[in-house]
Amino acid sequence: MSFGKRVSGGNAPAPARPAAPAAPKPKVKAAAPAATPRPAQKAAAGAPAPAAPAKAKPPAAPPAPVAEEIVIKEKSEQYYATKTTVFNALIDTIDLGQLAQLDQESAREEIRDIVVEIITIKNVVMSISEQEGLLDDICNDVLGYGPLEPLLARDDIADIMVNGADTTYIEVNGKIQRTNVRFRDNAQLMNICQRIVSQVGRRVDEASPICDARLLDGSRVNVIAPPLAIDGPTLTIRKFKKDKLRLEDLVNFGSISVPGSEILRIIGHSRCNVLISGGTGSGKTTLLNCLTGFIEPDERVITCEDSAELQLQQPHVVRLETRPPNIEGSGEITMRELVKNCLRMRPERIIVGEVRGPEAFDLLQAMNTGHDGSMGTLHANSPREALSRVESMITMGGFSLPARTIREMIVGSIDVVIQATRLRDGSRRIINITEVMGLEGDTIVLQDVLTYEIDGEDADGKLIGQHRGTGIGRPRFWERARYYNLEHDLAAALDSLEEAA
Ligand SMILES: Nc1ncnc2c1ncn2[C@@H]1O[C@H](COP(=O)(O)OP(=O)(O)OP(=O)(O)O)[C@@H](O)[C@H]1O
Ligand SMILES: [Mg+2]
Repeated sequence: MSFGKRVSGGNAPAPARPAAPAAPKPKVKAAAPAATPRPAQKAAAGAPAPAAPAKAKPPAAPPAPVAEEIVIKEKSEQYYATKTTVFNALIDTIDLGQLAQLDQESAREEIRDIVVEIITIKNVVMSISEQEGLLDDICNDVLGYGPLEPLLARDDIADIMVNGADTTYIEVNGKIQRTNVRFRDNAQLMNICQRIVSQVGRRVDEASPICDARLLDGSRVNVIAPPLAIDGPTLTIRKFKKDKLRLEDLVNFGSISVPGSEILRIIGHSRCNVLISGGTGSGKTTLLNCLTGFIEPDERVITCEDSAELQLQQPHVVRLETRPPNIEGSGEITMRELVKNCLRMRPERIIVGEVRGPEAFDLLQAMNTGHDGSMGTLHANSPREALSRVESMITMGGFSLPARTIREMIVGSIDVVIQATRLRDGSRRIINITEVMGLEGDTIVLQDVLTYEIDGEDADGKLIGQHRGTGIGRPRFWERARYYNLEHDLAAALDSLEEAA
């Protein structure tokens, strides 16, 4: 196996924190279809949401799993009645066509002026803060994603899960909790789903009830609508973190120990081929993003993703994204096509956001043919399961190769499997750094370099555990580390692992 072309100094600093992209600022969309028939130009407004909530304060940074039951302040029925009155008067007054020409700030100003006027004319008694809250709610309904807006504005939320108009859950600090966010009805929710997916030129309705999309801020969205979703439109949003977690953050959260993070740094710098394995939402993409921090600035990196989530800091990066089929079912570009095309683009490293199909074969081939330091993530519950999933992806991809040949390929290309997990207390941890050693008969031999062991549970239900070394003096990637002048660092990291054990 080739060890790459350059000898790295090995101590390149981690890249600076990624620049924060702009907060989700949905553009005014006058043409979004309305659920309830209203005069033509008024379609964009939808209708007032009865439970549009006020802004909630984000709680402390993760991983402290603070149960925060009341996410959004309850409002009185009278508030909703007032809102409906003001909203309807606004819709009668405002020209939505013109509003759509304005930028977000000016549109807001315009709405503010009219709302204040309506409140005065209708003699509504409200405090300044109530008035501000009302204005926020109304702007969210007219310009944005309605009741979702306060949730989208919170950076501490990882996922938003809307199960029909009345039920919305969020994930904060690894814990899923119910909120009191409500939509007026399923029609309003569907309307908002449609508004979201139409921004990326897609459509969701009874005829095409499943849709993947992205918010303007990069958040990943999935919509499944009735009749497939029995209890109403179901919307799942993986919030895009403006400030991606860095390896230091993972160390601070206890997701990995200091010597463990040093081993990850050496794995990244010495261009090991890495698979990151884990369950849904276990932190695979975050970890992959951290590992890409160790890529040298002069390397040509190509990333392939279903929905661009990675934020590489290097200057020479080409980002590719798959394309779902259009309404007629044509035009799809699969991950396999992207990975295959990558190979014609003179990549030095290939990064695959998520390997889930026959592209596994092309990734292994790339890893095997001089693109050392390639990486990908996949869904599996252990390093061994990750490798057998790769094998079955290749088998199911229609490659008629004997199992042994596939295993030889796996052993010849993947150096390390890193296993991420979300534990039952909500914390996310790296629980294995495992080497692929070779084939013994027909069995792939694996060797853990580091494992996480749970020792118990504290009074608050938080799991107590430790990252421990397994006594390996010379992992298989030792030679690789030596090639990159990192063997002393590796020896020191392995020693500290043992001391911690
Ligand atoms: N070690 C960690 N500690 C705390 N939060 C984390 C950690 N790793 C990831 N997260 C957060 O968890 C959420 C899910 O992370 P991520 O997208 O990396 O998971 P994933 O395994 O790639 O999910 P999926 O299977 O849906 O692709 C994100 O909001 C991320 O910021
Ligand atoms: Mg992911």
